[in-house]
Amino acid sequence: MATYIILLGPPGAGKGTQAEILTETTKLVHISSGDLFRENIQNQTKLGKLAKSYMDKGELVPDDVTIDMIRDRIARADCEAGAILDGFPRTPNQADELEKMLAEFGGQVNAVLYITANELILIERTSGRWSCRAQGHIYHQQFNMPKKPGICDYDGSELYHRDDDTAETVAIRIGVYLEQTMPLVEYYRKRGKLIEINGAQAVEQVTKDLLTALKDNYL
Ligand code: AP5
Repeated sequence: MATYIILLGPPGAGKGTQAEILTETTKLVHISSGDLFRENIQNQTKLGKLAKSYMDKGELVPDDVTIDMIRDRIARADCEAGAILDGFPRTPNQADELEKMLAEFGGQVNAVLYITANELILIERTSGRWSCRAQGHIYHQQFNMPKKPGICDYDGSELYHRDDDTAETVAIRIGVYLEQTMPLVEYYRKRGKLIEINGAQAVEQVTKDLLTALKDNYL
């Protein structure tokens, strides 16, 4: 059975940062729904235009197109062993659809890593975040600086500040998260999959806690 690990948590909690590290350790591919949408925006696809109209407002992109996009991604050969899902599912309906997809592709959700942090931390992290244009590598102006200002360490591409990281949009995204995504905490707790991790620690300590939890239970 293919292994799927879900990273759940509010905007800026550190899901993407930890997914980049976990993918090295587990050798599972990293699938970020946000990155897939941003790729579509950059390539000016029809999906990208639709997604942008929601993302700029801090709202969720409708379930039907999001589910289809993830389905297409999971169907690719590099997901044969499974994947680390970052930012998907985000609603109970998306979680139900994921179950169906994985049953079809011969996979299962092994663990849901729920990374927590308070609102002040989320704002500090999103307001100082820089992302790489080519592959979405993640930096922070204070906590995780690139070697050369404005340039990605890994691929040399330009670093940019995400359009949805303004204070106003982040506040909306946190509200949307509380209303639409928080129900997934109970959803996965009831299924015995949820592992809560304190995301308000240094990156290295969060990684240590994630790996310990995964080794003890799932890997
Ligand atoms: P998405 O891109 O998924 O954004 P998000 O879930 O809001 O999460 P973020 O990427 O903002 O934060 P993160 O938790 O990954 O934190 P990161 O590691 O970068 O989604 C964007 C939009 O796309 C959504 O609003 C929605 O419109 C749409 N969308 C996406 N998925 C969807 C879905 N399934 N359904 C519908 N719509 C969807 O870290 C943040 C910063 O903090 C970085 O600068 C990092 O360097 C720093 N940092 C990380 N960890 C630490 C630490 N421990 N200590 C100090 N700094 C840290």
